[in-house]
Amino acid sequence: MDLGLNGRTALVLGASRGLGRAVARSLLAEGVAVYAGARNLDAVREWQDALPPEQRARVTPVSLDLSSDASVMSAAETVIAAGGVDILVNNSGGPPPGAVTSLGPDVWTAQFNMMAGRIFLLTNLLLPAMQKKKWGRVLTVASSGIIQPIPNLALSNSIRSAISGWSKTLSNEVAADGITVNMVIPGRIHTDRVDQLDGLAARRRGLTPDDIAAESWSTIPAHRYGRPEEFADVVTFLASARASYITGSSVRVDGGLIRSV
Ligand SMILES: NC(=O)c1ccc[n+]([C@@H]2O[C@H](COP(=O)([O-])OP(=O)(O)OC[C@H]3O[C@@H](n4cnc5c(N)ncnc54)[C@H](OP(=O)(O)O)[C@@H]3O)[C@@H](O)[C@H]2O)c1
Repeated sequence: MDLGLNGRTALVLGASRGLGRAVARSLLAEGVAVYAGARNLDAVREWQDALPPEQRARVTPVSLDLSSDASVMSAAETVIAAGGVDILVNNSGGPPPGAVTSLGPDVWTAQFNMMAGRIFLLTNLLLPAMQKKKWGRVLTVASSGIIQPIPNLALSNSIRSAISGWSKTLSNEVAADGITVNMVIPGRIHTDRVDQLDGLAARRRGLTPDDIAAESWSTIPAHRYGRPEEFADVVTFLASARASYITGSSVRVDGGLIRSV
């Protein structure tokens, strides 16, 4: 199937590792030119250097720190000055774990601004170029916790639920402009973030990370963590011309982890 992505441009956030890096590579394989946003541009250049030359030439590393308004504005200006992008993949670092009762207002505000507020700002800045072309894709990485809250991940469960409301609302506002807006919901995809959370849980409970992973697998009908490439290919399909009538949706990539229909 030709996904109709050849020659398109994308900005992928959190592209230095994990899900963002996998999405960037998957889009590159389909002929997309990718702005790879992250703080650690050395990590971006490392995977960029390992690409075949034709794909390597289509990667532009972009410094982007979601904890800073100035950094987000500067990244947006770089992209807009070059004509904007057709595809925006909103992705951020995961928030620290914690129970609702352990979190004060300052933490909520800072994390909301980082995970949601600056994504909203960036999207608003990049939408006009998509509206002008009458074609666009806005994809936002969420978490299974917005459907089935994950214990001890209060910030993630709550702030991503707000992002879900934003995504659905925006999808209605721009659908007539040929722009689709969707959420992609990872269950447990094997990245550094999952290793980090398993390590923290192991320490908290006096177990090994392997014990925690085995326990996790037993709750997933597929009996394994997903691979970043499995997640990325779904994002790439949703970004494609072939997914033109999917908007306002939340698509799960979870091996059956979420129990509800
Ligand atoms: N993997 C899963 O199974 C899973 C499940 C549910 C939800 N999620 C969520 O999906 C997102 C990506 O997950 P992942 O597993 O790929 O995480 P990861 O391996 O920790 O990667 C996070 C990415 O976000 C970037 N990042 C972190 N802080 C940033 C900041 N202040 N500004 C800009 N970029 C920042 C990191 O790059 P730099 O450090 O270079 O900036 C990195 O590229 C996370 O929010 C995670 O919570 C993942």
